Amino acid sequence: MTSASTQNRQSTQPRKVIYDTDPGVDDAMALYFALAHPGIELVGITTTFGNVTVEQATVNALYLTQLSGHDIPVTCGVAKPWAMPGKPPPTFIHGDDGLGNLGQRQPAKRQRDPRSSAQFIVDMARAHPGEITLVPVGPLGNLALALKLEPELPKLIREVVLMGGTVIEPGNVSPVAEANIWNDPHAADLVFTAGWPLTMVGLDVTHQLILPGALFDDIAAHHRHPATDALRHAVAFYADFYSNLYAHVGAVRGCYGHDVLAFIRLVAPELFTTLNGRIRVTTDGIGQGQTMMHRRGDMFFVQPGWGDDCPVSTACLTVDAEAAKALFLNTLMSPWLPAAPKH
Ligand code: RIB
Ligand code: CA
Repeated sequence: MTSASTQNRQSTQPRKVIYDTDPGVDDAMALYFALAHPGIELVGITTTFGNVTVEQATVNALYLTQLSGHDIPVTCGVAKPWAMPGKPPPTFIHGDDGLGNLGQRQPAKRQRDPRSSAQFIVDMARAHPGEITLVPVGPLGNLALALKLEPELPKLIREVVLMGGTVIEPGNVSPVAEANIWNDPHAADLVFTAGWPLTMVGLDVTHQLILPGALFDDIAAHHRHPATDALRHAVAFYADFYSNLYAHVGAVRGCYGHDVLAFIRLVAPELFTTLNGRIRVTTDGIGQGQTMMHRRGDMFFVQPGWGDDCPVSTACLTVDAEAAKALFLNTLMSPWLPAAPKH
């Protein structure tokens, strides 16, 4: 239990965050938001398979931070799901390279931290007990492996704010499942039952945040910087997919900023309404990847797995989307980018 003075100090200092990600275009948006926002101190980027292979995710995380001039440790994580065969990455959404097929890239200059993503998470949690927030926005294998490496991890981590799942909103890979959870349902169920403070930022809210492509044109025109140029290029590819899929998104040549909302939840929780309840994950069959939430007051169930052995999580149900969009734009338009190095 943290004292009032500690809580007060914690509330004024930037939040130390490990960003667990599968970049991925919305992952890239979220990364740059986190780097730009004064309330977030990114202390590490851990990669996973998902939108791309884990190798490509690692290359992209190193490249995005090279472009933005932020020397943050990047580790390579799990390459496939916990307990089932992997699937090919959705190149039709994020491009073959995961960043909208950037084509010409600057020569890679950064090296990854040699530790695995799971080991990095454990090392940082042990070094900074109670201070690290995990923001996973891809399949959850790194967190599941970290829990196996360090069973006390839930007591060492301040909280988990993850992009994934859905409660009421239909899924995006099946009527009931969201992609991150569906990609590794076994790992996800371990994460939802670990007992750390956990907030789920799912499709219930991320399908409310449509980011127009023009917003990234404005950010790129404002900064005239390789990082925001690359982001604008990546979003153009990603927005084409969503604009062709949903007419209301196409009306603004837009896209869903899924992963961005995990960080917006961290810095502006007042923009959300939430519901508390036990959450479990369906691990196989037609409902694979469904985040099942027990939404009634506590009662006894004959079915095991819904009692105190399943902790209560928080799920975001609504968001003030216009305020979130404005916060995203204002943050990305701020002077967060060091001068681009001459290469
Ligand atoms: O379902 C959306 C999620 O899947 C986002 O995290 C996106 O980046 C993909 O990983
Ligand atoms: Ca992602």
